[in-house]
Amino acid sequence: MPNPPHHANTHTRRTVLKSTTVAAASTALLPDAASGAASPAAANPGDVVRVTLSVNGRSRVVDVEPRVTLLDALRERLGLTGTKKGCDRGECGACTVLVDGERIKSCLTLAVMRRGSEITTVEGLADGDRLHPVQAAFIRHDAFQCGGCTSGQIMSAVACVREGHTGSEAEIREWMSGNLCRCACYQNIVAAVADAAREVRR
Ligand code: FES
Ligand code: FES
Repeated sequence: MPNPPHHANTHTRRTVLKSTTVAAASTALLPDAASGAASPAAANPGDVVRVTLSVNGRSRVVDVEPRVTLLDALRERLGLTGTKKGCDRGECGACTVLVDGERIKSCLTLAVMRRGSEITTVEGLADGDRLHPVQAAFIRHDAFQCGGCTSGQIMSAVACVREGHTGSEAEIREWMSGNLCRCACYQNIVAAVADAAREVRR
């Protein structure tokens, strides 16, 4: 589910997992689009489902239990550790990725539910050696300290800029409020997002 702004997100990990368990179980029954390998038995808890995910423009096959979150599939199955696990319960935004261009908290969605979607992680932003304008702006504005929240902030900022929610500092703060920073770099993050928005509009 989309994560911005924070106050608009009334879903908790409990409610999301409750609602998605049913969907995941039925989704797990569907044959994988690429392999056609899944069977009804794969819906049993503890069984493994073969899922093809499109990540950063590449087709990736993972074998996961239906309960595995997209976050864990990315980090632990595909080695894409740029996406961070902070709270693992939908509160911090460290795990933010883009799914079909929309920012979501990857700890609140299941991998089996993201078949057929285009997933973008922080590893997929740069164009070769050329950083995405948001990445470059975060460096210019020193918009991080420990870096724990940074990839989530950057992914959310990419969407925030694209959505056009950068008209003022207050608007940026509002639409980035789903991403928390324990180091309190907010001033620099807001400046970086505003700068990146100007860069993109140029
Ligand atoms: S790790 Fe997903 S919101 Fe905190
Ligand atoms: S830079 Fe440390 S949590 Fe944001």
